[in-house]
Amino acid sequence: MFILSIESSCDDSSIALTRIKDYKLFFHKKLSQELEHQTYGGVVPELASRLHAKALPQILEEIKEYLPKVEAIAVTNRPGLSVTLLEGVMMAKALHLTLQKPLIAVNHLVGHIYSLFIEKETSFPKTVLLVSGGHTMLLEAKSYKEIKLLATTLDDSFGESFDKVAKMMGLGYPGGPIIEELAKKGDSERFNFPIPLKNSHKLAFSFSGLKNAVRLKIEELSPLSYQDKCDIAASFQKSAIEHLLHKTKKIAPNELAIVGGASANLVLREKFKEHFSNVSFAELKFCTDNAAMIGRVGVEAFKRGDFISLEKLQASPKAEFT
Ligand code: KG4
Ligand code: ZN
Repeated sequence: MFILSIESSCDDSSIALTRIKDYKLFFHKKLSQELEHQTYGGVVPELASRLHAKALPQILEEIKEYLPKVEAIAVTNRPGLSVTLLEGVMMAKALHLTLQKPLIAVNHLVGHIYSLFIEKETSFPKTVLLVSGGHTMLLEAKSYKEIKLLATTLDDSFGESFDKVAKMMGLGYPGGPIIEELAKKGDSERFNFPIPLKNSHKLAFSFSGLKNAVRLKIEELSPLSYQDKCDIAASFQKSAIEHLLHKTKKIAPNELAIVGGASANLVLREKFKEHFSNVSFAELKFCTDNAAMIGRVGVEAFKRGDFISLEKLQASPKAEFT
């Protein structure tokens, strides 16, 4: 018996089937829209929504023979882009009506935390650093329902700053993997970009000042050579990671789990491993948005009978943990 889960909060259309009794990921597919959004240097919501409308039914078609074994439908309903969330929510409602199985509303950020537990037992309490395109947060998690925000960003998110720096250098989208790749060939000492909030006691993150410093350097050096781009990528990445490390150590000095799309960054992983005696990560393939993590939350909610009615299930851009 399975939980069918749906993820469409941004630019990944994904569906999974998770076995309820042992959390086994029976089916998982994700169709990413990166190529389609690349020319725009970021996600275009209307385009993303139309692509979900095409991709989600295409994936569902592949598992139609298993639909009679679905016990509940879990769907990301918040936070994210309203118009893309709606595609998943509408599919979940249609499945609820046809299969007569209950609905589970999943907070996407909780999903990222549960990417640590795919095909595994949960383990709480945990201090979690969530670094994605939409969020940069330090969280104290005791269960999927008890999550406390310890620190967040004052402006841009960590992943978003990589996307913006890549866009400024005309490198495409998503910027994270592109910047990480260029940085391998760059000199991280060439530019002395500021480490955000370094001399501030604020327990918060901020990336807009760093992004601005990078923008000014790009303007100063333009037209950029390939080596300039590599050096900017390496120097920027170094400052952004130093900042994450500096603030995280102040709040959570020992044990930490890191999740979210940007936690796929291998330099970030190495840096945190150097400084934390006990740091864990989600598997690389479950860092960026996926329905497997939504299904894992779905199993927990199913076991507690935590369902939502058709009328109450709404898509919302808000990030609150309620
Ligand atoms: O979790 P995710 O798939 O979507 C959101 O929930 O936002 O994260 C996507 C973000 C993008 O901003 C992308 O550039 C960033 O994660 N990202 C990375 C890397 N891979 C993805 N950032 C830095 N280094 C990477 N290797
Ligand atoms: Zn995400």
